[in-house]
Amino acid sequence: MFKFTYDIPTRIYFGGDQLSNLGPELKKFGKRVLLCYGGGSIKRNGLYDKIKAEIEKAGLELFELGGIEPNPRVTSVQRGAQICKDENIDVLLAVGGGSVIDCTKFVGAARFYDGDPWDLVIRKAPITDCLPIVTVLTLAATGSEMDCGGVITNLKTNDKIGMGSPLMRPKVSFLDPANTFTVSSYQTACGSADIFSHLVETYFNDKGSMYMLDTFMEGMMKTVVKYAPVAVEHPKDEEARANLMWTSSWAINDFVSSCQSCAWSCHPMEHQLSAYYDITHGLGLAILTPRWMRYVLDESTAERFRNFAVAVFGISPDLPPMDAAKAGIIEVERFLFEDLGLTRTLTELGIDRTHFSEMAKKACEAKGGKVLKGYKHLSPEDIEKIYEMCL
Ligand code: NZQ
Ligand code: ZN
Repeated sequence: MFKFTYDIPTRIYFGGDQLSNLGPELKKFGKRVLLCYGGGSIKRNGLYDKIKAEIEKAGLELFELGGIEPNPRVTSVQRGAQICKDENIDVLLAVGGGSVIDCTKFVGAARFYDGDPWDLVIRKAPITDCLPIVTVLTLAATGSEMDCGGVITNLKTNDKIGMGSPLMRPKVSFLDPANTFTVSSYQTACGSADIFSHLVETYFNDKGSMYMLDTFMEGMMKTVVKYAPVAVEHPKDEEARANLMWTSSWAINDFVSSCQSCAWSCHPMEHQLSAYYDITHGLGLAILTPRWMRYVLDESTAERFRNFAVAVFGISPDLPPMDAAKAGIIEVERFLFEDLGLTRTLTELGIDRTHFSEMAKKACEAKGGKVLKGYKHLSPEDIEKIYEMCL
């Protein structure tokens, strides 16, 4: 159980005035840079111009892949890979949130594959290489700036699938909290729910844990609970933005999961929601997480939920475990739906049970089985019931 390899090689430049290092870092990988970005937020807040100036100062050649969608589509990966091949790109620069970084990761991998990039996502073909990736993060949420994974959507098949390879982990990431000052309150809330969920998914695992990692995760969950409402209320609060940004990276960069079995539950269920209804990832997680907690809470899990409730929300350790556990779940709901103001039900989003059965099966299949293995293994029938609880 206590056996692992620690290897998290992403260089981080944290805090302001560090963009002068961007040109020299990119130069290490070559001259021809593909700048990848989303729907225009970086143009509106001035970051695009700053990045362009640094690239010009370093004498590098700039190419662009703009318009990457939230819940990025495989068609954008295709577009990017084609530019890489046609223009002989040396290095990728992703400037944006998780969607831009995820798409960039698959662009880098698809550069070395001649078939449909979707094959790489669905594991039909292996990822054999990837162009070096540098990121400038603009939204604290997914941890993609420091992890190996990416999640891509295929609208033709209603699929949204996550896939990872160490080859896709960014080489360098620039994390300046000020770059997140313009993130809307809604996206800040969703991003924070996502960070919180990454920690919950890892904290509740079926193979036990290491005390040191448990307390580290509890500290990070407390950090999100403390600072996310501040950032929602005061978007330019640097202390809040900095705490959220660094937590987003460490929640999922493989450190806290280093010696644990990390079969996640809410993420595979959420990916079906965003695949079918294109909703924001963090919002789907916020709706699912407390329902999943209630569903898996029983005599065998109460002790773990109690520890969580006491450590993260200050629930009295003197309460019986089941009572403390339930009080903790009520606190999770208060945090997500009152402090962050996120929508409480799928019904309010206009989602009904039409596709639940199909989605439940797909959630299991996406993880390669007939059952979704996790803290508590979930059958398609279990998942359907959890979706029902979200209505
Ligand atoms: O596209 P632009 O114009 O940049 O606007 C984006 C987008 O509309 C906007 N935004 C980003 N930074 C901004 C900003 N607006 C103003 N100021 C800024 N500084 O925010 C919107 C959402 O951006 P997006 O990148 O989609 O959000 P997020 O970072 O939450 O990424 C979500 C995607 O990541 C996947 C999710 O499934 C989803 O597809 N995930 C990736 C993971 C990973 N790589 O490890 C793990 C996660 O669990 C997650 O599944
Ligand atoms: Zn997530």
